[in-house]
Parts: sequence; structure tokens; C-alpha cells
Amino acid sequence: MSHAFAVAHPNVALSKYWGKREGEGNFPAVPSLSVTLAGLQTRTTVQFDGALEDDDVVLGDAPAAPGPRARVVGLLDRVRAASRDERRARVRSSNDFPTASGLASSASGFAALALASVRAAGLDWTVEWVSDLARRSSASAARSLFGGFVELDAGAPGAPPETRLAARPLAPADHLPLVVLVCVATEAAKAVGSSEGMRVTMSRSPYALAWLEQAPRLHERLRGALLARDFAAVGELAEASCLAMHASALAAGVIYWNSVTVEVLGAIRALRARGLAAFASIDAGPHVKVLVHASDVASVREGLEGAPGLKRIIEARPGEGASLASGDGSGDRP
Ligand code: PMV
Repeated sequence: MSHAFAVAHPNVALSKYWGKREGEGNFPAVPSLSVTLAGLQTRTTVQFDGALEDDDVVLGDAPAAPGPRARVVGLLDRVRAASRDERRARVRSSNDFPTASGLASSASGFAALALASVRAAGLDWTVEWVSDLARRSSASAARSLFGGFVELDAGAPGAPPETRLAARPLAPADHLPLVVLVCVATEAAKAVGSSEGMRVTMSRSPYALAWLEQAPRLHERLRGALLARDFAAVGELAEASCLAMHASALAAGVIYWNSVTVEVLGAIRALRARGLAAFASIDAGPHVKVLVHASDVASVREGLEGAPGLKRIIEARPGEGASLASGDGSGDRP
């Protein structure tokens, strides 16, 4: 088969990955733990075609810009090398949520692209191998191959670039009564991509080393709290991980927040003071993903809706990993 269609979902890291290991291979410097979200999706079709002279990549409604195109072609090149098939590919990919604005579009995008490309090339790979392939383009994408709560280790120091590192599922989607309220702070694309933000943080932040020391500890504690189903501890540790990551980035001048981010953080604190279980998580963009206990969703939504400048709230729940779908991706949802 030279054609495949895959669907993948974004994930939000509860303990954050920020910073890469030195050298080649795109290995994370710290471990991370995420939850894959249902209700938001990337749909991607890949078709290898001997008649094409070059890869034809359309993201959303437009031909891919040079930067994103190069990352897509990089993944296709790895698949071509593995399958010993030089044919170029037609790639069509679209998200049903804002792209490249810190809503983890690269996670679902590269998870769907990896799965569709591997299948379209006829490679008989395990999901771990597909996760490793996705990680080489975007480390967070390795986690979106799996559903529920998912862990990705840090790369071993000095590991050769060809070393495999895949994410692994830790607990199913119904493990915790979690709802994620994504507070959309802008519909515009972000100014600084995550790879660039990490690079600048690691090279310039006076707190880069503090982050690299702290992140694995927060990760271990969060992992324990998750396995013990301690909702409040998971929320508190997730918020601590996100604030520590952004503190290290901010000190290097890497500022992803806008005024809405700060307003929502304030609203969350006010909600907690009223005894509601709501905690913040923020990635490489201004949106706050509010981690809420399922029983508090209505009251928390009400408390967030008045935040000045807030565009809208997307409600998402833990869901399944990436999957192959039938058809060409242009018809009904799978
Ligand atoms: O995988 P990347 O390169 O898009 O980086 C993801 C970084 C964060 O979203 C901020 C954190 C994470 O662990 O997902």
C-alpha cells in the first residue's frame, strides 16, 4: 500500500520536557509525563507516488512554509531510507484547533505524520518504533502515539543518534477524573517555536541548570501521585513543573505569555481559594490548559469565562492514541 490516513491528538505535558541533550538525535534532557486529549485532532494523509518530482506538502489550506516543510520532509526522508523507496510523497494535514500556537499541534501533527508515512511506505513497524520516529521530529509527538497518561524518558547522556527512544503508556485515559479546559488566549501563531525557545533558554538562562536539576524530581513525584490517583498532588506538581519551566525560559527573555495568560492564572488562584480543584499548565504559547477535577468543571468554567481577553474555552478529556483510519481523510470523521 502506498497511501495511508492517520488521526492523532495533542497531549499536554503534566511534567514538562524543556531542553534537549547535546548533540544529534533530538533527545530530551529531562523526562516528561503527559495526557493525550480526545476532542482535538490532526488528520493526515500520506501517499508515496512515483510520478511526483518533489514532496508536495499542504498543511491546513496552504502549501507548507519552508520551515515546517523541512521538518515534514526530514521525517519522510527517514521513512524513505528505512523502506529503501525513493518515491516522493503527497502529504495533506489539518488540525481542528489553532496551529503552532502552543496548543501542541506539533505533537499531534508529527504523531499522525509518522503513523501515516510508516503505513504508506508498507513498513511493518511496532508503535514503539513509530513513537521513536515521531520523537526525532518533535519529542512531545512521541507521546501522542499512545492514549491516556504517557511517559517519555530523558535521552541517555552521550547516546548515539541512532539510539531508539520511544514513549510508553503509564495509565489508561480513565485513570483520573481529569478534564482539561484549554483557555485560548489568541488565534495567532506563536513567535518563537519550542526548539528555538529551548535552545535560547539552555544557552542564556541563569536558571537553566536549576530547571535541569528540578525537572526530573518533579517528574518522579508527579508519576507517584498519578499512580496513587492523588488528584490534588498531580495538579499541584503539574503547575509547579510548568511554572519552573517558564521561569527558566523567562529569565532568558523567552516569553510565551500574554495578558490573558496572567488573567487566567489569577482566576485559577481565586477558584482554588474557593476550594475548587483547578491547576494551570502552559506550553510554548500563551494558552493556559486548566486541569480540573471532573466534578468541578461547571464552576471552574464559570470562574474562567470572565477573564479579560479570553477568546474561548475548549473542553477536552483524556483520550486514545494515534490511529489509522480508512478513506482519504476528506470525508466524514473516522
Ligand atoms: O516537542 P516539542 O519540540 O514541540 O516541544 C514541546 C515542549 C512543551 O510542549 C512546552 C513541553 C512538553 O513536554 O510537551
